[in-house]
Amino acid sequence: MSDKWKPRKVVIVGAGAVGSTFAYALAQSGLADEIVLLDANHELAMGQVLDLAHGQAFFPSVQIREAQAADYADARLIVITAGAKQRSGEARLELLQRNAKIIYDIIDDIVRQESTAVVVIVSNPVDILTYVAHERSGWRRGRIIGSGTVLDSARFRHLLSQHCGVDVHNVHAYMMGEHGDSEFAAWSMTNVAGMPVEQFCHLCLKCDDWRAARRKIADDVKHSAYHIIEYKGATWFAVGLALTQIAAPILRNQHGVLTVSSVLEGEYGLNGVSLGVPCIVSREGVEQVLQVKLSPDEQSALEKSAGVLREIIEKLTLSPSSQSKPKGA
Ligand SMILES: NC(=O)c1ccc[n+]([C@@H]2O[C@H](COP(=O)([O-])OP(=O)(O)OC[C@H]3O[C@@H](n4cnc5c(N)ncnc54)[C@H](O)[C@@H]3O)[C@@H](O)[C@H]2O)c1
Repeated sequence: MSDKWKPRKVVIVGAGAVGSTFAYALAQSGLADEIVLLDANHELAMGQVLDLAHGQAFFPSVQIREAQAADYADARLIVITAGAKQRSGEARLELLQRNAKIIYDIIDDIVRQESTAVVVIVSNPVDILTYVAHERSGWRRGRIIGSGTVLDSARFRHLLSQHCGVDVHNVHAYMMGEHGDSEFAAWSMTNVAGMPVEQFCHLCLKCDDWRAARRKIADDVKHSAYHIIEYKGATWFAVGLALTQIAAPILRNQHGVLTVSSVLEGEYGLNGVSLGVPCIVSREGVEQVLQVKLSPDEQSALEKSAGVLREIIEKLTLSPSSQSKPKGA
């Protein structure tokens, strides 16, 4: 073995439903050499580690163990799914402040360890927390990214595939903007079986009113998380797989195009906000934000989404203890 060989270590912070499902999907993917789990609840982390490790005979070789903060130092990828649960009667902004504090503390630990990893934020509200994590770290923007609308785009592709009667792998489609209510379907970029969606609609003749069908599909994408939460309290399977899709180009330097949440620096005429836009993702994290020519309606939807997020960022205040910023890497 060469002295230069370094394991592809992935640290997952937060070993709850999303973190553990991602760990399970990642273990089966064969993308990582080491998967280490860190959670404020040590018993939970240990339970998840043992349960996963007992499956090692059934997936490609990978080390699975509990993490320490020191594991940040030589990790290739750190995925943060840690989050607080909403207390009874707690306002969304108060919950956001508590989650922002959790993210700040984790980012401080990562910076202190002089980590060179790419960091992916998953905890909600993901776009806001990605922005505050980026600000806190002082790192270049591409190294701290959010899961953005990767999951929403997968939901969009699934619903389009069902509607058009075409395999999901023959559907390319992106949701953009906030991972939340102000997101929108980028119809101008939607492609079915190698054709722009308009062309496919003329060929297929399945729906009487394609405009109404499109509105319904886009609405259903936006509401899908609410339906799942009504049924079972939270979502974890599809997001776990979406995170594996984000991990792949980072661990394999694949240059995949994904609508991760990236801090914008003038792209689409926007600054001071992080949201889901198509990006080229490699071992560097976001290597390039693709500035696609959107339709006027889509451009204004993106600006509206950025406005919604900026308004929340401006309301955010952090306690003095969380404002002593460590030296950025
Ligand atoms: N971005 C997306 O597409 C997406 C999709 C689904 C869920 N989520 C979000 O992912 C987050 C996790 O969801 P979940 O269902 O796994 O929740 P969960 O409650 O099951 O797990 C969260 C875990 O974080 C841990 N934690 C809290 N503070 C911590 C800290 N400071 N350090 C380490 N661990 C800490 C808790 O102990 C808990 O085990 C939530 O914010 C959820 O809204 C995001």
